[in-house]
This record gives sequence, structure tokens and C-alpha cells, in this order.
Amino acid sequence: MTDLYAVFGNPIGHSKSPRIHLAFAQETKQDLFYKAVLVPLGDFKKEAERFFKHGGKGINITVPFKEDAFLLADERTPRAQRAQAVNTLMRLDDGRLLADNTDGAGLVRDLTINHQIVLKNKRILLLGAGGAVRGVLQPLLKEAPACIAIANRTVSKAQQLAADFSDLGKVSGVGFDEVNEPFDVIINATSASLSGELPPLNPTIIHDQTVCYDMMYGNAPTVFNQWCHVNGASKTIDGLGMLIEQAAEAFFLWRGIRPSTSELMNILRNERRTD
Ligand code: ATR
Repeated sequence: MTDLYAVFGNPIGHSKSPRIHLAFAQETKQDLFYKAVLVPLGDFKKEAERFFKHGGKGINITVPFKEDAFLLADERTPRAQRAQAVNTLMRLDDGRLLADNTDGAGLVRDLTINHQIVLKNKRILLLGAGGAVRGVLQPLLKEAPACIAIANRTVSKAQQLAADFSDLGKVSGVGFDEVNEPFDVIINATSASLSGELPPLNPTIIHDQTVCYDMMYGNAPTVFNQWCHVNGASKTIDGLGMLIEQAAEAFFLWRGIRPSTSELMNILRNERRTD
């Protein structure tokens, strides 16, 4: 019988997840269907319980339900526990729900495998201190960077996050005006890009080997990546690879088989150019 999966979100109209997972299923010859579900605000628990009651095997969760999904779970992976928000739920054989957060693993795979960037002993700057940053801190710290600085508009949130993860490595929380030294990897996880805004950054954070990564992506380079390029970054990367890799990681959790991502990545990138 065909296994059913879905992505739950609001809005959900532009989600690439059905396309990505159906491509993975075809490539790995898995008998599954995957659909996008627009969930009314406040109805996540009800809709998710109904989906699983009717035999659904797993869901991906996007804005704004990642915390609700975390709370609904019966069991959580260590990285999900750290993130306190999840993008993946899986129904176990006994009917209980397992939650995972594959966003950080997706980011790390995109950086280290697709782009061959070494994170060990590197100085990493994370911009933002919301759910997106919380979700990636544990997998990033696992790569043993020299340090991670979290810079945020609301400094107290950056400091709190740093305190929550300081047992895993050297993490500090600061305001944008306090970051002036160069970093090797700079990751934008603020939602500023969504509205075409840029945090107040000092160009001295970039040196000629700096890699800049925006978790956002679009048809054109993001404002953050444009700023990094103009200020001399050696490489700018957008979040399309992270999106595909977090999906692959969820697919692996559900199906026990890892799909290859490179061909799909090329297809989606080329489509974007002709949009
Ligand atoms: P997400 O789940 O995507 O991380 P979030 O939890 O709402 O979303 O966090 C959004 C992040 O973007 C926060 O770090 C926010 O800064 P504050 O904590 O000070 O609110 C940051 N952000 C949003 N708009 C911004 C802007 N125009 N300039 C700088 N930072 C911004």
C-alpha cells in the first residue's frame, strides 16, 4: 500500500517539499505519496492527530507550527530536544510520534558535502537568535568550530541561546555593533531577508576567504548575499541546498534510505534561472 506523507504549514502554497520528496521517492523506488496541507492557525494538533489516525506515516512541519509539533511528540531525538522545535514527525510502529529536527543537519551537509567547506576550527558568525538559529546550533557545534558568535538585534536572546548551548562548545551572544573582527563562515538566519532588509553589519567581519550563507533563497541573490559579495566574500551560498538536504535527512529517517540530492539541486537551480 502507498504510504502517505505531508508537509503542514501556513502559508504552504509555494512549498517545494512535495516536489522534492516525490522526486526522492521516484529515485529510491519507494511507494509513497506526499502532499502539502494548509493548516488553519491554531489547528495544528487536531489536523496532525487526524492525519496520523488515518494512517499517515510522517509529516514535515514548517512555519508557524514547529513548536506545536515539538510539543505533540511522544519522543524526541537529542537534536530535536535541543532545538525545541521540529520539522519532522514520524509515526512509530506502536503509534507513538517521534520528532526530529533535520534543519541543522541539512545546513551542515550543504556546507560540508555539497560545498566542501571545512567547519572544524573555523570562526562562525550566526546572525539572528530565533528558532532558525536554535535549530542549527547543535549540528554546527558538532563540527568542532573554533567558536560560534551569535549576533542579534535583541542581544538578550543571543545571550540566552549562547548560555543554552555553551556545554557543547565555545558560543557567545552579542549585539551587531559588537562584531567587528573577521569570521570564516557567516550564516544569516534573521528573517530580515524576507522583507529585503539587512542587519546593521560592519564590513570588517568579512575577509578574503569568508564564506557567506543565507538560509533564505529566491530567484535573485538575497540582499545579504549581495552585501557579502560586494564586501569581498570568497563565496556566497543561498538556502536552496539546505532545503533539499533537510528534506533528504527527513526522508532518510522515514524510509531508512538516503536519496541523492545533486541532480535535483541542479534541476531546481536551473528552473530558478528561467523563472
Ligand atoms: P525564525 O524561526 O525564522 O528564526 P524568529 O524566531 O521570528 O524566526 O526569529 C527571527 C530573527 O530575525 C530574530 O533573531 C530577529 O531579531 P529579534 O530577536 O531582535 O527580533 C531577526 N530579525 C527580524 N527582522 C530583523 C531585522 N529587520 N533586522 C535584524 N534582525 C531581524
